[in-house]
Amino acid sequence: MAEPDAEQSAREQELVERVAASFAGADDERLATVMQSLTRHLHAFLREVRLTEDEWNQGIAFLTAAGHITDDKRQEFILLSDVLGASMQTIAINNVAHADATEATVFGPFFVDDAPRIENGGDIAGGATGQPCWVEGTVTDTAGNRVPGARIEVWEADEDGFYDVQYGDDRTSGRAHLFTDDDGGYRFWGVTPTPYPIPHDGPVGALLAASGRSPMRAAHLHFMVTAPGLRTLVTHIFVRGDELLASDSVFGVKDSLVMDFEELPAGTPAPGDRAVEGPWSRTRFDVVLAPAD
Ligand code: BEZ
Ligand code: FE
Repeated sequence: MAEPDAEQSAREQELVERVAASFAGADDERLATVMQSLTRHLHAFLREVRLTEDEWNQGIAFLTAAGHITDDKRQEFILLSDVLGASMQTIAINNVAHADATEATVFGPFFVDDAPRIENGGDIAGGATGQPCWVEGTVTDTAGNRVPGARIEVWEADEDGFYDVQYGDDRTSGRAHLFTDDDGGYRFWGVTPTPYPIPHDGPVGALLAASGRSPMRAAHLHFMVTAPGLRTLVTHIFVRGDELLASDSVFGVKDSLVMDFEELPAGTPAPGDRAVEGPWSRTRFDVVLAPAD
C-alpha cells in the first residue's frame, strides 16, 4: 500500500487529536492519561500497518471468539495478554528489580485459593502422577535475614501436563501451602515438573498455530510467597536443560529462575522417612523477598 501523502497524513492526524481530546475531560486523571495514550498508540499501529477493512473485520471476529470462549473457568483474554508478552511486561513494570530479590513471573490461570496445608517435609502431590521431586530452600529478606512463618503456596501440573482443575472432577492434587520454619527453611515433596501446552483449542491457539508458534510452556513449578512487611512474590522455577526454556509460549522464563534438578537413580536414600521406589529428583530454591512498597 502506498505511503499517504501530506494531505492524507494530516487528515489521519487530525482524527487522532480529536479522539485523544475526547478523553481529556475524564474526572479520573489516570483514566484520561491511559485512554489518550492508548488512542495514540492504537492509531499509530493502524496507520503503520495501513490496516485493511478486511483485517479490521478479522480482528473483531477474533475478539468476539475470545469473548465467547471466556467464562469463569476459561479466560481467553488473559491468555492473549500472556502470548503477546503483555502479562510479563506488566509484571516487569510493577516488580522493579530490587537488590537480589527473586524475580517474579506470570501467575497463570491454575492457582486455587484454599489449597491444603502440609507440614514441612510433606507431599503436595496428593495423587498427582509423576516422578517424586524433593524441593527445599529458605526464605530471606534482601538483608539476608531469614523469614520464619512465610506462607508458601505451590502448584504444578502432573506428568501428563494437566493441573487438577483441568480434570473437572473436583480432585485436589499437585498443590498445597506450607510455612517456613523458625530458621526460614522449607521443604516438601512434589513431582518433577513436565512441559505442557497452554489451553490452545480457542482463538489464541489458532493465532499461535497461524504464527508458527508452539503453545508449549517450559516445565515449571509455581510459587507464591507472602510474609508481613515484604513484597508478595509470584514466580516459578524452571528445569535447567529443558529444551523449551528459549521458546516458552508466555515468555515467563528468566535465567535466575532456572534451577538444577538433580536426577537420582532408584535406590538412592530419600530425605525424611519416605521410601521412594524408583528414581527421584531434587532441587533447591532460595527465595529472597523485596521490602513491601
Ligand atoms: C501456567 O503456568 O499455569 C500458565 C501461564 C500462562 C498461561 C497458561 C498457563
Ligand atoms: Fe503452570
